[in-house]
Amino acid sequence: MVTCSAPGKIYLFGEHAVVYGESAVACAVELRTRVTVVPAESTSITSGGQPLAIGEEPYIQNTLKIMEEFLALPPVSIRIDSEIPIAAGIGSSAALTVALLRALSIEFGVEMDLSLIAATAHRIERLVQGAASPTDTFVSTMGGVVVVPERRHLPPPGCKIVIGDAGIGTGAGAAMREKTGEMVLRVADLREAYPDAVDPVISAIGGLARSGVLLLEEGDCRGVGKLMNINHGLLEALGVGTTRLLRLVHAARDAGAFGAKITGAGGGGCMVALADNAREVAQGIERAGGKAMVVEIAQEGVRKE
Ligand code: MEV
Repeated sequence: MVTCSAPGKIYLFGEHAVVYGESAVACAVELRTRVTVVPAESTSITSGGQPLAIGEEPYIQNTLKIMEEFLALPPVSIRIDSEIPIAAGIGSSAALTVALLRALSIEFGVEMDLSLIAATAHRIERLVQGAASPTDTFVSTMGGVVVVPERRHLPPPGCKIVIGDAGIGTGAGAAMREKTGEMVLRVADLREAYPDAVDPVISAIGGLARSGVLLLEEGDCRGVGKLMNINHGLLEALGVGTTRLLRLVHAARDAGAFGAKITGAGGGGCMVALADNAREVAQGIERAGGKAMVVEIAQEGVRKE
């Protein structure tokens, strides 16, 4: 029996634009998905103690299929316990895939270093979602604050991170895949219809990520926050905002956050704020109808528990 855990992530900059090769900065956070695998008579899955049908869990299904490339995989019982809100833009699918790959590779003695885990998890996300950047799976595997495409670690922002969940993530399994895939497709459609308007927005987001890297290296949390606010406006321009998310973003800023923006695919799910006064910002988010979480950076990515 092996248990591995992998962290969720937030984007300080660059979601959606990163799908088109632009820079992004993402940060692993101490909300973990733990996966336990035990050889069994037949393959089964439970999440939070509830049984799940394998046919409705495309990330798990594809992980098991890809592991067959490395060995004849015997039946396994898979137990999932997750602190990461599902389909809310915090990287629940990446954390599940990465933790499951690691647990299976250790349990069955398959040699997979962290780079191979990250690359294989990215392959699985692409299979399930249609399009996916390597960001979520890389950050969940390696931990810390990372700029892509360079995959270089950056110093953590010297202030607190507050996540606000607008509470309209859409369940597990297929719904999780559809939400991210649907939002990525929505941006692709907009870009195809109005390339002259959308391409500059995408490259402006990449520019914000690159400027954000310099501010993170200088330890300028206030500056990073200002750029996050601009990034939020550009995500709205790409059509991935919602009324509820916007309310939480403004509530966080009104409560004194340095900056606040959507994190992840959007269309519901979560926003993220940087602040020194995390308690007040969390209270502001809750008053605006969100569920607030003050999170630490996960310096460690996937690990054996
Ligand atoms: C989803 O967490 C982030 C997106 O940029 C998609 C991706 O990078 O694969 C929307």
